[in-house]
Amino acid sequence: MNIILMGLPGAGKGTQASEIVKKYPIPHISTGDMFRKAIKEETDLGKEAKSYMDRGELVPDEVTIGIVRERLAEEDARKGFLLDGFPRTVEQADALNEILSELERKVDAVINIEVAEEELMNRLTGRRICEECGTAYHLVFNPPKVDGVCDLDGGKLYQREDDNPETVANRLSVNVKQTKPLLDFYENQGVLKNIDGSRQIDNVTEDVIQILESL
Ligand code: AP5
Ligand code: MG
Repeated sequence: MNIILMGLPGAGKGTQASEIVKKYPIPHISTGDMFRKAIKEETDLGKEAKSYMDRGELVPDEVTIGIVRERLAEEDARKGFLLDGFPRTVEQADALNEILSELERKVDAVINIEVAEEELMNRLTGRRICEECGTAYHLVFNPPKVDGVCDLDGGKLYQREDDNPETVANRLSVNVKQTKPLLDFYENQGVLKNIDGSRQIDNVTEDVIQILESL
């Protein structure tokens, strides 16, 4: 099962991915999470990525494509993958097709989570994340049982550095520009599935599962 989750920043890609991997034995591959790990570990990749992420810009294609190529070659991705936040440009989508054709595989579905731009600022500025397991909460829409503490493992919740209003505004405008050509790209391949991401998290998950079960 080779799946791509698409959606503007805050659409719920990470939230839905956490649910999907509970049900299907495929790795969740988030380029954003990979860059954040590299930043934490202060690697060269992390240093390069940070300068773009802090401004809400995209990391250059050649860097991003390189890390995805390496990740997809790992053992656990052989039985399938759930890509989150990649591809984000048509160049990345072309490169992914090439990588997959070398592996004699193809994308089975691109699930595009649609949410109106106006709602995304609230979602992102209210997001809090567990520093242990990465689970995303929201102060209002999906609060933890105890303030500032993860329900699952008691980890401390933190706010992402790029979740401030100025950076969020730039992330949204950068991503809105890139989205239309990418949606056209996958529509033409006949694999695009749009879902309404403005409903409750559980309802969105039901739609995602329905698509996955139909493959
Ligand atoms: P990345 O980490 O991918 O960030 P993003 O695309 O901006 O998306 P987010 O992770 O912010 O949102 P999400 O859709 O996962 O939402 P979530 O489920 O957390 O990328 C970060 C940066 O890395 C980029 O800006 C770029 O610099 C770089 N990068 C990454 N990939 C790249 C690429 N391919 N090319 C170049 N650069 C790249 O939910 C958000 C909030 O909403 C949470 O609080 C959640 O609890 C809440 N929520 C979720 N669903 C619902 C719902 N249905 N109702 C109410 N609230 C909800
Ligand atoms: Mg995410």
